[in-house]
Amino acid sequence: MKASRRRPAVLTVVGARPQFIKAAPLSRALRRRVREVLVHTGQHYDHEMSQAFFDELGIPAPDRHLGVGSGPHGMMTGRMLEALEAVMLETRPDLVVVLGDTNSTLAGALAAAKLGIPVAHVEAGLRSFDPRMPEEINRRLTDHVSRLLFCPTPTAVRNLRAERIRTGVHRVGDVMMDAVADNLDRARRRRGSTTLPAEGTYYLATLHRQENVDDPERLTRLVGALERLPHPVLLPLHPRTKDRLRRTGLRPRGAVRLLPPLTYLETLRLESGARAIFTDSGGIQKEAFILGTPCVTLRATTEWVETLRGGANRLAGASPARILAAARAIERRRPRSRAGGLYGRGRAAEAIARIVARFLEGRRR
Ligand code: UD1
Repeated sequence: MKASRRRPAVLTVVGARPQFIKAAPLSRALRRRVREVLVHTGQHYDHEMSQAFFDELGIPAPDRHLGVGSGPHGMMTGRMLEALEAVMLETRPDLVVVLGDTNSTLAGALAAAKLGIPVAHVEAGLRSFDPRMPEEINRRLTDHVSRLLFCPTPTAVRNLRAERIRTGVHRVGDVMMDAVADNLDRARRRRGSTTLPAEGTYYLATLHRQENVDDPERLTRLVGALERLPHPVLLPLHPRTKDRLRRTGLRPRGAVRLLPPLTYLETLRLESGARAIFTDSGGIQKEAFILGTPCVTLRATTEWVETLRGGANRLAGASPARILAAARAIERRRPRSRAGGLYGRGRAAEAIARIVARFLEGRRR
């Protein structure tokens, strides 16, 4: 490249925990080819929900931190939109990259699209077909204003086609697979805490979806089911869930052991050593599948339909009877799950960076 030619600039928007994990491999790959301006909206702000991931995964410090914080969806998204527009006007990126399905994703996509800046969506095409989920609204709208759509799976490509989105669609594999490939050895080498149960003797559970934790009656049922599981249940608490438990006056007991939010490496280690995982997180369902740990999903639907094959992942909603039956079935016969090459081979970030660089090169000519 000639020194006189400015390197194209990409502005990447992150804001919530799963986006930091995805940004780790992606930023590394992008920075080999383009100039990256990393913007943190501040959607997640507690040290253990945000900075801890930057430190552990060596993610470059954000160039801008918008400090938006939490609030109702409209207010949060609106504040992000306003602040992101100002940063985009000032930095004039050639492309904006957004990841996943959070309010930060939608705000980034909308701000860029209105300014006529092309949008690249990483994790495009995922659908739960549940229009009540805030994440479903975010991902649908984001896909429909994106120029480059990076799909992790063939199902995602098919979902886009069904919505008549055909151009700019690339199946590249999953950047979360890259993150697992980059960090699993390091995670497994970590010494387990002496205060936690040994590998193979516990379940891991996570809960944070609005539909599950904002309704006290549903939250009570879910916690009740976890309390009755036949092995200790490690439940690292998302701040939203901690807040809702406090408001509901619920103090989980029985098999449940509450933990603070975990780092990425600690999560990988506990996921890979668990007898089974009970979760309403999308990313954790996928990690369970990649690691071969049986999963019970505490939702009625999943975007990651491939994980349901052979009973490796079971949908139990918030029904205690179904949750306990799923646990019994797993204890009787542990389903085998291996993702194989379904999510790629840990090179998705590299593929995305290559396509982004080619796209930007094409626009200069
Ligand atoms: C968000 C995303 C979801 C993603 C999840 C990962 C949306 C709509 N949802 O859900 O897709 O799977 O992140 O965690 O964007 N809070 C703190 N400290 C923090 C962060 C949050 O106390 O560091 C509290 C806030 O006060 C808020 C609650 O947690 O009440 C929820 O945060 P929010 O960003 O609204 O959504 P999540 O449930 O984290």
